[in-house]
Amino acid sequence: MQLTLALALQACWVFISHAIQHSPASWGHYDVCKSQLHTDGGLVWYYMACQPESTDMTKFLRVNLEPENITCGDPPEIYCALENPYMCNNECDAETEELAHPPELMFDAEGRNPSTFWQSTTWQTYPRPLQVNITLSWDKTIELTDDIVITFESGRPEQMVLEKSLDYGRTWKPYQFYATDCLDAFTMEPRSVREISQRTLLDIICTEDYSRGYVWKYDKTVRFEIKDRFALFAGPRLHNMASLYGQLDTTRNLRDFFTLTDLRVRLLRPATGATTVDEENLSRYFYAISDIKIQGRCKCNLHAASCVFDKGKLSCECEHNTTGSDCSRCKKHFQGRAWSPGSYLPIPKGTANVCVQSAPAGRLNVSSLGVANRNRAGVCDDVLLRCQNGGECVQQQRCRCPAGFSGVLCESERCAGGRSCDELRSGRDCRLLSSLTLVYSLTLSLSLSFLFI
Ligand SMILES: *[C@@H]1O[C@H](CO)[C@@H](O)[C@H](O)[C@H]1NC(C)=O
Ligand SMILES: *[C@@H]1O[C@H](CO)[C@@H](O)[C@H](O)[C@H]1NC(C)=O
Ligand SMILES: *[C@@H]1O[C@H](CO)[C@@H](O)[C@H](O)[C@H]1NC(C)=O
Ligand SMILES: *[C@@H]1O[C@H](CO)[C@@H](O)[C@H](O)[C@H]1NC(C)=O
Ligand SMILES: *[C@@H]1O[C@H](CO)[C@@H](O)[C@H](O)[C@H]1NC(C)=O
Repeated sequence: MQLTLALALQACWVFISHAIQHSPASWGHYDVCKSQLHTDGGLVWYYMACQPESTDMTKFLRVNLEPENITCGDPPEIYCALENPYMCNNECDAETEELAHPPELMFDAEGRNPSTFWQSTTWQTYPRPLQVNITLSWDKTIELTDDIVITFESGRPEQMVLEKSLDYGRTWKPYQFYATDCLDAFTMEPRSVREISQRTLLDIICTEDYSRGYVWKYDKTVRFEIKDRFALFAGPRLHNMASLYGQLDTTRNLRDFFTLTDLRVRLLRPATGATTVDEENLSRYFYAISDIKIQGRCKCNLHAASCVFDKGKLSCECEHNTTGSDCSRCKKHFQGRAWSPGSYLPIPKGTANVCVQSAPAGRLNVSSLGVANRNRAGVCDDVLLRCQNGGECVQQQRCRCPAGFSGVLCESERCAGGRSCDELRSGRDCRLLSSLTLVYSLTLSLSLSFLFI
């Protein structure tokens, strides 16, 4: 008996040559594209969904300002403090390095004191609006992984729109509106990200959270809240990324929401600190930005674990016999079946969906890619993807979880009792979440987009 067991174990014995690192900070998994497996059948490659690490994306962007002559200092100009019109001892002069405020200073190294910043001309054209477009382009699709944070050294703008493009700047959509008075500025009801639920996650809101407050010295940032939105699926500390990943996998709209090629900050009205503009002294009104934080990763369709920046251009280092800067095609001679993106499911290793050699193939054919192929359909197995907490794998399609556990691999405690669901926002969200988990473990490819209509 024991011998049979030992033999069976040995037959199943797999050895993963890469150490898989689990770092909650970078959300673990998906950091390698393939590993070597030793099975009794010999050495085989085991392919996995993979994605590049999340990083500071401001290092790779191009910035463009409209109008072109909106940066201060040409000709040199004196500007005043917003809160004190008698404090007019500042000068902007593009010709003098210490007094210049070019756009690059929005992205330079932090921690400098006094901080460096880009600054616009002052509002001498009042009552014509003082408007600026700051366009950031990557020439590559990227996925946001953390909040966008813009730090203003002037007061925060009274009206501003953040826009994004998914097609290299051809078309633009608003991401979020910001105003001291949303109704007045954009005829939108003010809302806060805290009021957003799973159902309304894709709503474009106008928020007053980042414009109010005359005491701007202590509150200089304007945010676009990515993590709060992730948290609707992954819990407040993003501990359940599996749930978010599963959702991203099955809901295209949701994935696209966090994906972009360009961002545009439209500054529409500067801080005035009061209801009326002091026309006697327009040098108090301008925009100044010391920092823009954008954290994200290259979108590689789960076919690359790294992305290189070469000759000013980002591109994925494609694996799985895919190619293109987003790995969105099969390589030549590898069109044996239609290209498809990798999948985060089954959790935690995902499915590579490798491109296979075109027929008539030599020795390599789809069924000889046994591991990758089997994995394509499987949710669980008895080797790498065991159902947890005593769950039972049913036909590799789902885990039958014992009472008290749920999740694709029975990895989470069921919410019903309430206490273990403190993480979740409300009972309703909680039930929705666990039923979602069940749904996508049963029907992997079924789109859940109806949830977001
Ligand atoms: C900013 O871009 C928008 C289109 O997104 C355009 O309509 C507007 O005129 C631009 N503003 C400036 C100041 O160039
Ligand atoms: C900037 O350029 C526009 C036309 O391109 C011009 O009307 C405006 O006066 C210029 N502004 C400054 C401050 O030179
Ligand atoms: C702004 O107002 C202050 C105080 O009234 C004055 O000293 C300063 O010259 C004014 N600046 C401009 C550009 O008019
Ligand atoms: C891609 O194709 C090459 C050449 O046939 C093969 O050696 C390699 O294993 C393939 N990689 C994947 C991920 O299928
Ligand atoms: C695919 O490969 C397997 C094993 O290498 C082989 O038995 C099978 O005949 C091949 N099928 C085709 C259609 O070539």
